[in-house]
Amino acid sequence: MISIGGKVVIVTGAAQGIGKTFSKALAADRASVVLADISDTVFEAAEEIKSEAGADSCIAVKTDVTSEADTKSMSKAAIDRFGRIDTLVNNAALFQGIRRQPFQEITADEWDRIMAVNLRGMFLCSKSVFPQMRVQKHGKIINMSSGTFFSGAPNFLHYVTSKGGIIGFTRALARELGQYGITVNAIAPGFITPESKKEMTPDAEEVRFIVNQRSIRRELKADDLTGTLVYLCSDASDMVTGQTIAVNAGDSMH
Ligand SMILES: NC(=O)c1ccc[n+]([C@@H]2O[C@H](COP(=O)([O-])OP(=O)(O)OC[C@H]3O[C@@H](n4cnc5c(N)ncnc54)[C@H](O)[C@@H]3O)[C@@H](O)[C@H]2O)c1
Repeated sequence: MISIGGKVVIVTGAAQGIGKTFSKALAADRASVVLADISDTVFEAAEEIKSEAGADSCIAVKTDVTSEADTKSMSKAAIDRFGRIDTLVNNAALFQGIRRQPFQEITADEWDRIMAVNLRGMFLCSKSVFPQMRVQKHGKIINMSSGTFFSGAPNFLHYVTSKGGIIGFTRALARELGQYGITVNAIAPGFITPESKKEMTPDAEEVRFIVNQRSIRRELKADDLTGTLVYLCSDASDMVTGQTIAVNAGDSMH
């Protein structure tokens, strides 16, 4: 019942981490994927996916999600190459590189930078896909929030605030776009153990602390999110909108 074969999906922040895992999983399920990222490594990610899923499975578009011109070019590239846009996955964010610090030490510039990528970026990308989705009378926008909003993770005020804003954005935009057959939903993952950080073994104190708060006591990997992503991309979720699905191994419940 759940099939995404032939769907055209834009994934922002696709050069590494969750966005790259998402792009691989979508291409493996025969979706046509547009990988968008500010980093040049997005081209390597696309080549890797092509070698696994075929030369026609994806394209890469260098995109700064804070630039309106770039987001318009991103959507145009998707339409030029694949003829339509079924889903936008708003995944790009400043996250891995952010220093945790008490709120009074966060500078105004740093606050603005996080809000620009994590919120303005999502707004501009959604605006850029809307004209095409409206013509199609069908589309899906999927926004990456975070479990840190529900736990109120300390020393991370700018990030947590941005991820809470995404839930408001998701709900209000879902109300506006339902009339066009466009759904807007969010995924709020728990902490994903990064493959790249070798010190984060299952025995590391930080990992054990997080895992012990979960109903299902194991680490989350980016692959654990792909089932929810595919469901939200598929027609099976056509009547689900304005929702935030927490994929957190039963940590916070709301
Ligand atoms: N990793 C986790 O534990 C976790 C948990 C909850 C939510 N999330 C959310 O999931 C998403 C992905 O997280 P991740 O861990 O893979 O992050 P990451 O930092 O590894 O990757 C983010 C990607 O976004 C790109 N990016 C940054 N600024 C950009 C810009 N201006 N324009 C375009 N691309 C830009 C980066 O180049 C990078 O490829 C984020 O929205 C994050 O908030 C992550």
